[in-house]
Amino acid sequence: MRTLFSHIKQLIQVRDSTAPVSGGDLAHLPLIENAYLVIEDGLIFDFGKMDDLPELAIDEHIDVAGRIICPSWCDSHTHLVYAGNRVNEYVDRIKGKSYKEIADAGGGILNSAILLQHTSEEDLLTSARTRLNELIKLGTGAIEIKSGYGLTPEAEIKMLEVIAILKSEYDLPIKSTFLAGHALPITYKNDKSGFLDSMLQDALPQIADRKLADYIDVFCEEGYFDVSDTERILEEGRKHGLKGKIHVNQFNVIGGIEAAVKHNALTVDHLEELEESDLDALQRSTTIPVALPGCSHFLKIPYTPARKIIDRGLPIALASDFNPGSCPSGNMNFVVGLACTHMHMIPEEAINAATINGAYAMEINNEVGSIARGKKANFFITKPISSYAEIPYSFSTSVIDTCFIDGNEII
Ligand code: NIG
Ligand code: FE
Repeated sequence: MRTLFSHIKQLIQVRDSTAPVSGGDLAHLPLIENAYLVIEDGLIFDFGKMDDLPELAIDEHIDVAGRIICPSWCDSHTHLVYAGNRVNEYVDRIKGKSYKEIADAGGGILNSAILLQHTSEEDLLTSARTRLNELIKLGTGAIEIKSGYGLTPEAEIKMLEVIAILKSEYDLPIKSTFLAGHALPITYKNDKSGFLDSMLQDALPQIADRKLADYIDVFCEEGYFDVSDTERILEEGRKHGLKGKIHVNQFNVIGGIEAAVKHNALTVDHLEELEESDLDALQRSTTIPVALPGCSHFLKIPYTPARKIIDRGLPIALASDFNPGSCPSGNMNFVVGLACTHMHMIPEEAINAATINGAYAMEINNEVGSIARGKKANFFITKPISSYAEIPYSFSTSVIDTCFIDGNEII
């Protein structure tokens, strides 16, 4: 089955290289004006300028009529599988309580964990499907999903089983991450190493044997897991073939980035707080920083200093952090908009960070993240807009008209 998309106003992110885009290169978004695109059997087959359209046997022709085509968003950090919500905590924060005060009183992540432990796998799956279906219509075409709201081996495995079912049901690439250290449950209040034993000696071998995770994660933060816990988790993950993708520098700088780099983590995520020494460590590594501006917006904490990262010649990816506590939205269009408005990223930088660099942050940059021959036909067509800068500009209305995953229109 071969489909031609003709008269594309701009075919954006046309890029053969699968390398992450770094530093000054982020300001360049390669595109073809007045383009055509041909897809075949779910893959990108050909593209170019309308003037150069070759004679091709075509099964279907879609006239894009002056609209823009962009490769799908690659959202490399989500907690899409969760139970219930934390709207009460949101209201408490409006009234003046802090995220930390709520967590210290036994709310926060622990609240989500208790709810999740009492929710069936079937119900978790149903709500996760609903969220994922919505995200796909918002242009997401590849996604990472974490465990971490289980906090017992059984409940962590239940979460990862839900992710495995999603992987088998959906055509978009899904990566799963075992978030081995998210918070300390009450039952282990004074026994952090006992908790880590349960996660690393009981849960991890089962998870690895059943290939339920692609990566390992930890919340490296004051009051959660320190640098030595982080190193232990990353080291145990490595023994089972799982690279690290870690939560770090959200509220405090405690040396987690250096530890992540030392253990060859694939990504370091959050980085709302960042010191020069963190940037020095990142410059010596292939670890990619991932910013989560939806979390900064929702918790009213600083935004990741993208300009400092880019000025050091480093790459940066943007992801949603979709979760019930710190960012109950997985809308990547909004994430791109926040990055432009609050992190001073220009639209070209933000789009690079949310496509090819997001793909790199999931190690699927040879499959998705740009328009290139042989890559998956995962992309969206916009409504009639004057330029791709309208994606971040239109922060509360969707500019997306139609989404395609593996060449199939999402209805
Ligand atoms: O990435 N920071 C740690 N974990 C999640 C949110 C956890 C929660 O509040 O439920 C995050 O922000
Ligand atoms: Fe997160």
